[in-house]
Amino acid sequence: MRISEIQIQQVKDANNIVDVIGEHVQLRKRGRNYVGLCPFHNEKSPSFNVQEEKGIFKCFGCGKGGDVFTFMMESEALSFTEAAVKLAERANITLDLVANDKENEEQSEREILHNTARAAAGHYFKALRAPEGSVALAYLRNRKLSDDLLRKFGVGYAPEPSNLQETLSAQGFQSEHMEKAGIISKSSSGGWYDRFRGRIIFPVFSATGRIIGFGGRVLPKPQGNADVAKYVNSPDTQIYHKSQVLYGLFQAKEAIRKQGFALLVEGYVDVLAVFQGGFENVVAASGTSLTLEQLDLLKRYTKSIVLLFDADQAGKNATVRGIELAIQAGFDVNTVVLPGGEDPDSFLRNQGREAFAAQIEKQQSFIETKAQWFDEQGMFHDPAKHAVAIHSIVETIAKVPDPIKRELYARRVATRFRVLESTLLSELQIAVKRVEKKPERFQPRQSEGGNTRQDFTSSVDLPVVNLLISEPPSETELTLLKTLLGDPHGVRNVIVLSEFSIDLLRSEEVKTVILHLIKLLDAGVQPDTASLLAEFRGREEEQRLIVDCSIAGGEFNANPDASSSDASDGSISARAASQIIAGLMRKELVRELDQVREQLGRAMSNEEMDKLMQASLLLSQRLEKLKNPATAHTTFTVTDE
Ligand code: CTP
Ligand code: MN
Repeated sequence: MRISEIQIQQVKDANNIVDVIGEHVQLRKRGRNYVGLCPFHNEKSPSFNVQEEKGIFKCFGCGKGGDVFTFMMESEALSFTEAAVKLAERANITLDLVANDKENEEQSEREILHNTARAAAGHYFKALRAPEGSVALAYLRNRKLSDDLLRKFGVGYAPEPSNLQETLSAQGFQSEHMEKAGIISKSSSGGWYDRFRGRIIFPVFSATGRIIGFGGRVLPKPQGNADVAKYVNSPDTQIYHKSQVLYGLFQAKEAIRKQGFALLVEGYVDVLAVFQGGFENVVAASGTSLTLEQLDLLKRYTKSIVLLFDADQAGKNATVRGIELAIQAGFDVNTVVLPGGEDPDSFLRNQGREAFAAQIEKQQSFIETKAQWFDEQGMFHDPAKHAVAIHSIVETIAKVPDPIKRELYARRVATRFRVLESTLLSELQIAVKRVEKKPERFQPRQSEGGNTRQDFTSSVDLPVVNLLISEPPSETELTLLKTLLGDPHGVRNVIVLSEFSIDLLRSEEVKTVILHLIKLLDAGVQPDTASLLAEFRGREEEQRLIVDCSIAGGEFNANPDASSSDASDGSISARAASQIIAGLMRKELVRELDQVREQLGRAMSNEEMDKLMQASLLLSQRLEKLKNPATAHTTFTVTDE
């Protein structure tokens, strides 16, 4: 059931928070607020606080807080709708409850998209076996892919000129849904066009076997087609999230369970070729490095990965990053490096399956592969590079969560490459501490457009994409939000005029709230706690933040003109905000330095190391400058945590 926003507002307005809570808790007036004994935990002295004007409550003992709806939900264990119904009754408001179709709608839209994708796959599948697909089929056969295999993977062909939209329309599918399924697109002139034309189609299956997306490979043309992308892929849609899918998993999962490990390769064709070679436990991350979500998916079947890469690609950072993520997630990662220029598909075709099986037999831990690399570059024999190499290896070993395995790896590397075992182990201890200090809760951050981060990151082109992390709000971030809530207009100006970038913030919640506030202010809307809370309904973390920061921070300043809107005249809150921002920038630089040092540990070549050294130098210089600002007046001390 659903209640309209207007009615929710009505219910809220009709239920004074002090009256409602007063029915459950004995409240005493203290200053402008009310206090009482917290109903959510046992206490002898009152730390439960109600602020009538803001319409919020907060217990400083147990941390619970929110608005009148939250109170009802918490104290009577109700859902939001139940709480609203109860409060409506209390105020004699009759609610028009409407069935909540939205969730059903979304569910059924996904269902429609699934059907659309399946119909498209059927269309492509038939086309490959029809006259217009003969060239494509010949090409696939020439690559020694059997009909049986092509059938298993649903391989098809998108004809050129294309007739997908007509075919699917005739079957009753709507263009709107074809677009949402990612198979057609609007052209700049307003018409529709089919995304895949003249391409071999590799359908992407979910782990449960539903078709969710497509990859389309060009056919080689006699005159060459260097100017077109080799692959066109479906965009992310409601049913397809690339970072959460492993190509081939549906077909491979039984074999993965049976074999106890998954072979990881790069491309669609590699998956097909390896599968056909009799190694059915094969998946691909489809041209990207592994993500945490993909690892989560794979974890249901195995925690062992055998990575196949060709010699040229082996040291590539994107690959290494995925590996280290897997190691950190507790996977055993072994590697097979195929001889130069061969990918699994060409290797199988040229050398056969026995040779391929022999390669897999030769698998070794990624850590040993890494050490072997350094050895081949002569780094263990170059006194200048020896320490760097050790450091880099240790950095990877430290990511292994199991201490017994860690020690095993360290000893193995020491023996095999004749490195002093004690040096390795003592370095390892230090590195482990550093890894463990890192926050546990890490999620890759979505990269948004308009990233202003480059403003102060190193101008050196870092070879490794930073692994960006969301963290719980820091004191500094909380202070910034409090200051902003206390003097929205004044602080907004500082934020907008300074070098502040939203990416300085690590906590996704703080980011969301601040961005939202700035948007409101830019639109000339005067924010207040109650409406902010309402806008973040259902998002507990943000709501808690808003309550915490507005209860402890200043009042919302209702009159923009009365607040200092000129940052340079240095109102107290504006000055505090500038200092917070400077603090955040310092912190960011320290963080980047740490990252560069970590990347140093992941570097695979001399060239890369030189680059990173240079980057670290630059960052230290900048940090030095920020630490000695010319203008050092302080009213507020902002500490770097
Ligand atoms: N890829 C992509 N877009 C490209 C190139 C590659 O999405 N423009 C992804 C595809 O998932 C592809 C994988 O990266 O399968 C590996 O690329 P590549 O080795 O070039 O392709 P193969 O699949 O091996 O195809 P082929 O053997 O036919 O060249
Ligand atoms: Mn290939």
